[in-house]
Amino acid sequence: MTTITPRVEQPEYTPEVAAATATLYERLRDLVPEPEWRLQAPLIHEILRLKKEIGAVILAHNYQVPQIFYGIADFQGDSLGLAQAAMEVEEATIVFCGVHFMAETAKILNPKKTVLIPDPEAGCSLSESITADDVRLLKQRYPGVPVVTYVNTPAAIKAESDICCTSANARAVVESLGVDRVIFLPDEYLARNVQKETDIEVIAWKGRCIVHEQFTVEELRAYREQFPGLVILAHPECAPDVCDEADFVGSTTGMTRYVDGSNAQRILLVTECSMSDNVQKAHPEKEFVRPCTLCPHMKKITLENTLASLRYRQHEVDVPADIRARAYNALARMLKIGRED
Ligand code: 13P
Ligand code: SF4
Repeated sequence: MTTITPRVEQPEYTPEVAAATATLYERLRDLVPEPEWRLQAPLIHEILRLKKEIGAVILAHNYQVPQIFYGIADFQGDSLGLAQAAMEVEEATIVFCGVHFMAETAKILNPKKTVLIPDPEAGCSLSESITADDVRLLKQRYPGVPVVTYVNTPAAIKAESDICCTSANARAVVESLGVDRVIFLPDEYLARNVQKETDIEVIAWKGRCIVHEQFTVEELRAYREQFPGLVILAHPECAPDVCDEADFVGSTTGMTRYVDGSNAQRILLVTECSMSDNVQKAHPEKEFVRPCTLCPHMKKITLENTLASLRYRQHEVDVPADIRARAYNALARMLKIGRED
């Protein structure tokens, strides 16, 4: 069977649209050439109108492009912040501008809401690196050892886990369990970065983030030489030696907060590159060194498919009740711990 996904027709750039989006354009004009803005502004205008009309809230991850991050989102954040925000949503519909595991987490935490994702193919290399059967085999191999699962996984993996974590609380979650060994899934580098900070033995899986695994120490050192005074912030999905080279390691929101509180004038965010565009907008006085490393999954979300998502109420994210209940337990246990960075 072939499923046809309806698309939206390009709305017109009218004087009303130009006036309503003028302030936003002032903010984004160095990133968006005017001919492009004439196509994007009407989409933004229509998304904002429709969102109000149907009672929807848009949650956007820090890796979304500035037009989505600043133009249409009600809440912006990292995986932990967006999970917390999703729980608080009172409107009937959540549109998730992020990847599938994040939308699924929103549905698990707030199941009465309709959760939509503009492109259901927006996946994650970490999510795809492990199956529920793999987790069951690991539990047989290490009986009684608790399973800590990074949220970058499908609901079925969370359901097999004792507790979840995000990049904002991985070490705190591992240390909360009062054991001397944990199975930590599925990000090998995050596991090894946690291992550096704890005496608890961390048994890792072999998943990798296709964005963060690309960065190397040599590259970071070359940037330091080329840009004197450079302050380097890295995401803990990077290799351990890359994190050792950085001045700060943390979640995407942890990095944003570090920049907010820092006097550094030259900054390199070792992560997906839309982050730099978004953080730069909040700190126009700072210089951001930007190697462009895009997440192809995050970039599947666009203004066009977000508008189609609202207009045609597509693509609804659902989680079977038995999986949801068990995944909820693992997430709720993590949410009690909160943020560490
Ligand atoms: P954060 O929770 O730090 O935003 O990370 C999510 C992610 O996908 C990083 O690649
Ligand atoms: Fe997954 Fe990496 Fe993309 Fe984050 S950046 S969604 S971890 S593939």
